[in-house]
Amino acid sequence: MKSVEIKGRQVPVLGLGTWELKGSVCQDVVGKALELGYRHIDTAQIYDNESDVGTAIKSSGISRTDIFLTTKVWMDSVASSALPKSVEESLKKLKTDYVDLLLLHWPVSGIPLRDQISALETVQDWGLAKMIGVSNYPTALMRRIIEETEAEIVTDQVEYHPYLSQSAVLDFCRQHDMFLTAYSPLARGKVRTDMTLLEIAGKYGKSAGQVALRWLVQQESVVAIPKTENLLHLKTNLEIFDFELSPEEMAKISALAQPNGRIVAPDWSPKWDRDDQEKAA
Ligand SMILES: NC(=O)c1ccc[n+]([C@@H]2O[C@H](COP(=O)([O-])OP(=O)(O)OC[C@H]3O[C@@H](n4cnc5c(N)ncnc54)[C@H](OP(=O)(O)O)[C@@H]3O)[C@@H](O)[C@H]2O)c1
Repeated sequence: MKSVEIKGRQVPVLGLGTWELKGSVCQDVVGKALELGYRHIDTAQIYDNESDVGTAIKSSGISRTDIFLTTKVWMDSVASSALPKSVEESLKKLKTDYVDLLLLHWPVSGIPLRDQISALETVQDWGLAKMIGVSNYPTALMRRIIEETEAEIVTDQVEYHPYLSQSAVLDFCRQHDMFLTAYSPLARGKVRTDMTLLEIAGKYGKSAGQVALRWLVQQESVVAIPKTENLLHLKTNLEIFDFELSPEEMAKISALAQPNGRIVAPDWSPKWDRDDQEKAA
């Protein structure tokens, strides 16, 4: 599979998201995904499924070093007094000695940013995480990490799909040798009936979902982590490397972005970047 190279490591551009997958369903889907060729799995402490993900990886028989595994530290564990212990617990559940990528799940304002990042660096120094990064961080906060710390953050995991522009975050990532991890890349399934995507999909004999995923991974420094528990979708979401969208088609899909295209907006959201489309609206 195509991958993004970051600090000498390969990150498969298509991973499996696991939010809301739990118990035997989670184990089955992750196991099947690994069988089909997925080598990038995304979980988080708050998903309450690290143990199922770990079981599926362990029983797959695939070498741990061939799998790119991400987990995220929940907001109640970002303090330096809590983060290392929470990561040790995650690793125990995941049945592994390390994760490939460890993220802060959301910005937390009550604790100095420098301390949160320093706690991430501590567990990285201990070898518990090969790489570190953030999620749901606007560029203003990422800029502070770069200005105020020596940490090498490699990604910002943010909501990104055809209805939401992320040009500010993407530009920032490209300028700072980072990649953008696109979550909710299918806009939670909303893309499947989109007329523009369906029209382009028809030309290539693909589905609207496949076109949305292709649009993401065809962009430089973008990785996508769609979630599914449907075995057909699991298989077809991988089948996006045998066609290429034209520059005109890429632009047409980018033009679907809307000012109110964001789906994930909990009360604790930071002040998001306002992108070109939003400014123009
Ligand atoms: N960092 C964060 O704060 C954050 C927030 C949200 C999500 N995430 C991560 O990102 C992952 C993905 O995001 P998400 O779960 O919110 O949304 P998503 O991947 O955009 O959408 C999942 C939905 O799309 C459907 N689907 C999957 N493949 C499809 C296809 N080919 N055609 C049509 N529909 C399809 C799935 O239904 P079926 O099961 O029926 O296929 C499911 O209902 C999460 O699982 C999680 O790992 C991170």
